[in-house]
This record gives sequence, C-alpha cells and structure tokens, in this order.
Amino acid sequence: MENFTFHNPTKLIFGKGQLSALRTELAAYGQNVLLVYGGGSIKRNGIYERVTAILREMGKNVYELSGVEPNPRLSTVNKGIEICKRENIDFLLAVGGGSVIDCTKAIAVGAHYDGDVWDIIMRRVKATSALPLGTVLTHAATGSEMNNISVITNWDTQDKVGWSSPHVYPKFSILDPTHTFTVPKEQTVYGIVDMMSHVLEQYFSKSPNTPVLERFCESILRTIVETAPKLLEDLTNYEYRETIMYCGTLALNGLLAMGMVGDWGTHRIEHAVSAVYDIPHGGGLAILFPNWMKYVLDEDVSRFKQLAVRVFDVDPAGKSDRDVALEGIERLRAFWDSLGAPSRLADYGIDDSKLELMAEKAMIKGEFGGFKRMTKADVLEVLRMSL
Ligand code: NZQ
Ligand code: ZN
Repeated sequence: MENFTFHNPTKLIFGKGQLSALRTELAAYGQNVLLVYGGGSIKRNGIYERVTAILREMGKNVYELSGVEPNPRLSTVNKGIEICKRENIDFLLAVGGGSVIDCTKAIAVGAHYDGDVWDIIMRRVKATSALPLGTVLTHAATGSEMNNISVITNWDTQDKVGWSSPHVYPKFSILDPTHTFTVPKEQTVYGIVDMMSHVLEQYFSKSPNTPVLERFCESILRTIVETAPKLLEDLTNYEYRETIMYCGTLALNGLLAMGMVGDWGTHRIEHAVSAVYDIPHGGGLAILFPNWMKYVLDEDVSRFKQLAVRVFDVDPAGKSDRDVALEGIERLRAFWDSLGAPSRLADYGIDDSKLELMAEKAMIKGEFGGFKRMTKADVLEVLRMSL
C-alpha cells in the first residue's frame, strides 16, 4: 500500500426522514443562509418546500441562488459569491445533485477570496478558508456530498476543471433515499455509470499489496451490477434507491483511496468532452471507459482479468489471461448497454471535427493518469475509438 492519511470530516446523516436533522445541524451556524439549487426539480418534488419550512421555522434569513446548471458554470458561481459578499452569508446549503454541491463548494472558497475564484479552480492560488456548507443530496452519482472535490465549467474558455480543497468538505450531508425517487430513469443511469466509473478509476492502480481495497471495489461494483437493473424497473423502490445511494457515496469519499493511487484518466478525457459539447458526465463516461480499458489493457492484464472473474463472473477455464480480460470489458460494455447508456460519441451527435480541441482541453494540466500516463496522442486514440 501507499502511505496515507485519511481525514474525512463530513458528518453523514443517512436514511428515511433524516431531513429533520437539518434543524440540529443548522443551529450551530449563523443567521444568513444561502440556499443553492438547480433548475427546479426540488420545487416539483416538494423537497424545496420541506427545506424552506425548516429554515423559516428556525428564523433564518434565507437567500436563494437557483438555476445551477448540470455541469455548473463559473458565471453561476460568481453570482453566488456576489450574494455572499453583499448579504454577509454565514452558511451555504446545497440542495440537489453533484452540480449544485460542486457550485456551492466553489462559492464557499470564492466568498473568502478577493481575487477571481477561477485562480483557485485552476490551482494558481490555494484557498486558505471557506464559508461552511452543508448538503441535502437529491441524486446518487458523484460522491460530492462526502468529498472535497468540485468540477466547474468556464463556458467562455470551454474549460471544465476539477479542483479540491480541504476547506470544502460539507459540514454535514443529509441523504434520504426517498429524495431520489423522482430522478428520471435516464439520469439514474448516468449516476450509476458515474459511481461505477469512480470505483474503476481507483481499481486500476499500480499501488502494491492492496487486497482489501480491491475487494472493497469489487464488492461495490458487484452490488451495483445486481441492484441497478432492478432499480430501473422500479424507480421508487426504497431498498434499491438506498443501496445505490450508499454505493455512490462510498465510491468517492476517500475510502477506496486509503493506500491506493488510482488512474482518473477517463475522467480527465470526459471533462474535456463535456467542456466542448456540454453532455451529461455519466453519459460521456459510459462511452469512454470501455475504450480506455481496451487501450491500456496491456499495462497490467492481471487486474483486468481479476475484474472479469470477480465482478462479471467470466469463466477463465481454457482461456488466455488477455482473452478473459477482454471478455470482462465486453461484459461491462454490455451491462451499460442493457441499462440504456450511450456507447458512442455519435449518440450525442459528436463527430471527428473537434477531436483535436477535446484532446487539447484534456491536456490543460499536462499529462495525466496514475495507471497509464496519457499523452495527447493517447487521448486522441481513445477519442477515435469512441466515435
Ligand atoms: O437541476 P435540477 O432541476 O435539480 O435537475 C437535476 C439535473 O437536471 C436532476 N435531478 C437531481 N436530483 C433530482 C433531479 N431530478 C428529479 N428528481 C431529483 N431528485 O438531475 C440532473 C443532473 O443533476 P446533476 O447535479 O448535474 O448530476 P450529477 O449529480 O451527476 O452531477 C454531475 C456533475 O458533477 C461533476 C460532473 O462533472 C458534473 O459536472 N462531478 C463531480 C464530482 C465530485 N464533486 O466529486 C466527481 C464526478 O466525477 C463528476 O465529475
Ligand atoms: Zn465522475
């Protein structure tokens, strides 16, 4: 294993009816609360009403930033920062999916910084403090509810950039699986692909002696493979929503990175694709991941074989390791196809006209990939395989 320090300060409050914990949690913070949310799903499903009732009851002064986009934009972050500075906001409450939470994290550091928050996102400047934030999660996907990562798109320059800071861990996150009942089927699939990709990004690692972490990864993946098809047939089933929500958080809250350094190359490429074409993150991953896997397979065939056998039940008898590994990749592709996920860039109308631009965007912070170091030429190849 690699040496590591694990410190995740987010208080996770999980289960049916847990929204009532908001009262106790918010009591510790000041009067002025900025409520951050997306395009209106929380108004349609009643979560907005329940959250604001608690805030009113507590006598909080509530300000609102609505309309956070999927793939949240820097312009919206800046609107939030302006409200924080103008109204002396004490606490940020994000109610929504990963985009709303990521936007809120950027507002949190921007509110404590006099310059342009893009400097922090581009890692030219380190955030030294942030406004405190809490979340009410409504969509299982990113793990943002229990990590210190945020991904922001600068639409002017067409750059989508991930950044992190120890100051933006949510103080608390409330996860009630019933809050995800209204997530449409297509969006549910994107979330499932995203959380599986987070596990895979960490599973493809060259860190030595990580048997426990590998089995953590495999157990989360197997559980998702078993549960996802049932959930898609029964979108308001509590147990299925509960299992998937739990998997999404465990996939990216630091647990799987305790002593194991992952790859994260496919995420870098996907962010470049959605920076240029504004496609859903999970949709992009569904297209790219199996192709990245085929491209890097020879880095360590044994890890791919292990995935095939332990997660997808491929029978290795009489087959070469490489064939077993390839069969595993095909099973993953077939599984995502069976859920209705896209498999080609053409599914989003993306052709080869901007491959160069996407590859350049992927290189914005230089070469990347913990399992396979990717150059621009490598990225172009994976993109070509994905057309
Ligand atoms: O905007 P509203 O109206 O709320 O609708 C949203 C949005 O259209 C809808 N939705 C959410 N909860 C719902 C619901 N609809 C009905 N009922 C509900 N309960 O779902 C749509 C997508 O929401 P979004 O927040 O964009 O999805 P997700 O959670 O997948 O977040 C995606 C963003 O997170 C970034 C991605 O790049 C992308 O920008 N990521 C963040 C990470 C992190 N912070 O750790 C890691 C990830 O790898 C990822 O890159
Ligand atoms: Zn992701």
